[in-house]
Amino acid sequence: MSHAKTKVALLFGGRSAEHEVSILSARSVWEAAPPDRFEVIPVCVARDGAFLKPSASRAVLRSRGVDTTTGDPEFDFVKWFRKEKLAIAFPLIHGTNGEDGRLQGFLEIAGIPYVGSGVTASAVGMDKALMKQAFVAAKLPIVDFVAVTETEWRDERRRVMQAVGNSLRLPYFVKPANAGSSVGVTKVRKPDDLAAAVEHALRFDEKILVERGIDARELEVAVLGNDRPSASVVGEIVPGGEFYDYSDKYIDDKSRLSIPAQIPVRVSDSIRALAVAAFRAIGASGYARVDFFLDKGTKKILVNEINTIPGFTSISMYPKLWGATEIKYPALIAELIDLGIARSRERAARYKSMMSWFDEVEKLG
Ligand SMILES: Nc1ncnc2c1ncn2[C@@H]1O[C@H](COP(=O)(O)OP(=O)(O)O)[C@@H](O)[C@H]1O
Ligand SMILES: [Mg+2]
Repeated sequence: MSHAKTKVALLFGGRSAEHEVSILSARSVWEAAPPDRFEVIPVCVARDGAFLKPSASRAVLRSRGVDTTTGDPEFDFVKWFRKEKLAIAFPLIHGTNGEDGRLQGFLEIAGIPYVGSGVTASAVGMDKALMKQAFVAAKLPIVDFVAVTETEWRDERRRVMQAVGNSLRLPYFVKPANAGSSVGVTKVRKPDDLAAAVEHALRFDEKILVERGIDARELEVAVLGNDRPSASVVGEIVPGGEFYDYSDKYIDDKSRLSIPAQIPVRVSDSIRALAVAAFRAIGASGYARVDFFLDKGTKKILVNEINTIPGFTSISMYPKLWGATEIKYPALIAELIDLGIARSRERAARYKSMMSWFDEVEKLG
């Protein structure tokens, strides 16, 4: 008996600060997706936002250092997807224009099923201020923060400084609302340094957050599933420097992963339950990595953030957490694709039921 393979468009690169990281994630998936079940066809989104043909995209994954500055404006991705009868797209683009709902919206408009969270969950998960509001509404514990827009900062700086001073204790962490990879994040130790940190964060986004800095262990959990998601074991990031900053993530490579984290079972159970609650709070689907702080002093657990397209190379935290739980990397890729297909079938069925309701109403009238 022979089954046709499921054809998957693996979207990677993107008009994002995390373009290079995405290439690494995609290369890993391309190499490891179970070949008996899937035909994975890479499609690179160049830095200018235009797509590259599969042949050129394959070349990017095959060897390092291929130039991806400009895409091929002649290549019509949607037309190609339909003509070649692909089943689903796997958007593996981290950060802006990939993880924030924009790409998902494009795929929705084109009627293309895709892996991972939908438009709303992606957008809420990307914007740290909205994300925290969703967490607060779900009664999840988070760090105290103040959100500031560029306009507020320009027009009412003194009031903003006062609000920060009144509601937060030093040190602060200042960060752009929409970014990632610790880009634009500064630790502030004295009030005089706040303004420079805010200006720096404003280079990356028009909305920024000032948070109370926590002396904490950093713990992460992988969540997998659609409506009934499950949580992996807990992992720990041990930063190489003062905090888990950009150079620690991608340049010095001094941080270490510890899986499973050496924490009491009681703590790990709470964290895993909170991870599922955070996933539900933003309405995520497919997968997400939820990051926590465990306050070294008070031992309180705080949700830091959710990432709806987590780093996904075979040695990234997300796949390693599942590897340590029960699911190996190739099976994890298969599960994500299956979850995406299942969700798109459910939505197609609901669309049908909605349309038939209109038919019924029309007959009655
Ligand atoms: N409130 C905070 N207290 C202590 N450390 C923080 C705080 N906020 C951020 N950090 C440090 O900065 C890193 C990056 O911040 P994060 O909010 O996770 O942004 P990103 O989305 O860029 O990963 C964290 O992993 C942590 O090391
Ligand atoms: Mg983070």
